[in-house]
Amino acid sequence: MTFLKKVTIKGTGSYMPERVVPNSYFEKIVDTSDEWITTRTGIKERRMIEKGQAMSDLATLASASALQMADISAEELDLIIIGTSTADMLSPSTGCLVQHRLGAKKAVAFDVNAACPAFIYGLAVAQKFMQDGTYQKALVVGGEIVSNRLDFKDRSTCVLFGDGAGAVVLGHGNGLGDGEILSTDIESDGDLWHLIHVPGGGSRLPASHEMINEGLQYVKMQGNEVFKHAIRTMVDSAKKIMSQQGITSDEIDWFIPHQANIRIMDVVAERLGIPSEKVIVTVHKYGNTSAASIPVALDEAVREGKIRKGDLVLANSFGAGLTWGATLFRF
Ligand code: ACO
Repeated sequence: MTFLKKVTIKGTGSYMPERVVPNSYFEKIVDTSDEWITTRTGIKERRMIEKGQAMSDLATLASASALQMADISAEELDLIIIGTSTADMLSPSTGCLVQHRLGAKKAVAFDVNAACPAFIYGLAVAQKFMQDGTYQKALVVGGEIVSNRLDFKDRSTCVLFGDGAGAVVLGHGNGLGDGEILSTDIESDGDLWHLIHVPGGGSRLPASHEMINEGLQYVKMQGNEVFKHAIRTMVDSAKKIMSQQGITSDEIDWFIPHQANIRIMDVVAERLGIPSEKVIVTVHKYGNTSAASIPVALDEAVREGKIRKGDLVLANSFGAGLTWGATLFRF
């Protein structure tokens, strides 16, 4: 009989680019208003990189901060997973670049490309490898530089997204009060791939003047279709893991929904029976940072003293793929 080892979050970290882009910026370049963006999405401003910054820059800074909180050195890591759809390069993986930057010599490193839930996907993969004892100390990052995939002429997408990175360091729990990842659920429906996609730059439509001229390197999204699927999938996934663990919503101390749109977050929290004072919200200041959304919100809530040792935290997400998932952990 195999005993599964307890996997705990030892440290959290995040890095948000310094450049603040308020809604008023978009009023100057597309037909929109601060009022429309605020009421339809809850977003007031977002962070965007300076020219020249890449995913591994943000991920390395977020990771260093998580390692410091965990009091674990990069040399001790044996697994690095970067959840991102906006890697530095098509090859190699951002995981290998972060390994190099951190000096995490003995780690195996790779990326998980699963859009917004990529952090939860990464957590699920790390949890399985650690539960069976294959790896002892892992770094899981969720990060995205969406700003250079945005068509700044398309008002239906350019106002929604921002850049950033968040990270957790995982280790094995030694005793009571150490916290534990209780459950992770990850799911996909490739039949709905067309609802959010970036058509150009991959093997189907490689870089070419024609591809660029047609703007196929940018995010294309059917926002209102995504909206409906987001609510259904986030609610179902959260209910699934709560029922697996025999946990009811009144036992949840903090809920971190994917920070895409305050209206989606409100409906999901309401359908799960979680009051608004337990919902962690960063969407007003960061917009939708895709894979960074949950680890950044987690890190900020930990550093602000909201999430404390022993708290039960539920997080869930959805995104391009379609992909979705949830995790339940005791911090
Ligand atoms: N400013 C002003 N008007 C706008 C803007 C804008 N920025 N964007 C769209 N509109 C207009 C539309 O053109 C439309 O006008 P019309 O009625 O004349 O045709 C009107 O506003 C309503 O458009 P809808 O798309 O129906 O607006 P909705 O209330 O659905 O809000 C939104 C749009 C915010 C995109 C919403 O659907 C949403 O949040 N969807 C989820 C998207 C999401 O979270 N995607 C991220 C997935 S994560 C990932 O993988 C990257």
